[in-house]
Amino acid sequence: MRKGIAFPHIRRQSRVAKPPQQATSMKSRLFRIMRWTVIVGICCLVVSQFFGPAKTNPSTDTSQSIEARLQITPPVAAILDRSCNDCHSNKTRWPWYSNVAPVSWFVINHVDEGRENLNFSEWGRYTQRDVDGLLKQICREVKTGAMPLTSYTPLHPRSRLSKEDVKTLCDWTTAEHLRVTSP
Ligand code: HEC
Repeated sequence: MRKGIAFPHIRRQSRVAKPPQQATSMKSRLFRIMRWTVIVGICCLVVSQFFGPAKTNPSTDTSQSIEARLQITPPVAAILDRSCNDCHSNKTRWPWYSNVAPVSWFVINHVDEGRENLNFSEWGRYTQRDVDGLLKQICREVKTGAMPLTSYTPLHPRSRLSKEDVKTLCDWTTAEHLRVTSP
């Protein structure tokens, strides 16, 4: 009796049927969380556009290019152009998604790393030893299917190499290797 008078609001509240009310407040809480997740996600995406590596196509002296330094047949030039140049030259054709972070970060990193390892536009800076190794490695990479990268080919189907393409490239690297190393 005394308890009832002291805390009437508690007793009244406990009599109210709660489950439906709780269910709706849970839903609206979830909805609020989801809405904030989307808003924060969009903000992160927008902000991310201002960060990350930048796309570059450095201008280069054409006398340094592989075409100027080695004897390249038109079929070989065509293969290098459609399958390798996007990552291994300064003549990258940037796809539209290379403008959208965070995808652009992966694309730009691949190109930067590819150019660092092998750059057809800057072939002139390679020593005789480098040329030796690179020519052999070009054949090895395409024979094993390591190049062009498997992350690249689905969006660039034309870059896939047929058996004949691989043979054309390897015949050429072997011939060039012989030519540049013979005294
Ligand atoms: C999507 C970008 C991309 C494409 C296209 C691509 N490469 Fe690469 N390539 C790379 C990256 C990144 C590396 C360095 C890391 C690695 O070896 O995986 C590399 C490394 C190499 C190396 C090793 C060089 C060294 O010093 O170790 C050779 C050789 C090579 N690529 C040849 C080719 C050839 C030939 C083609 C065309 C048939 C080609 N790549 C197409 C990205 C690419």
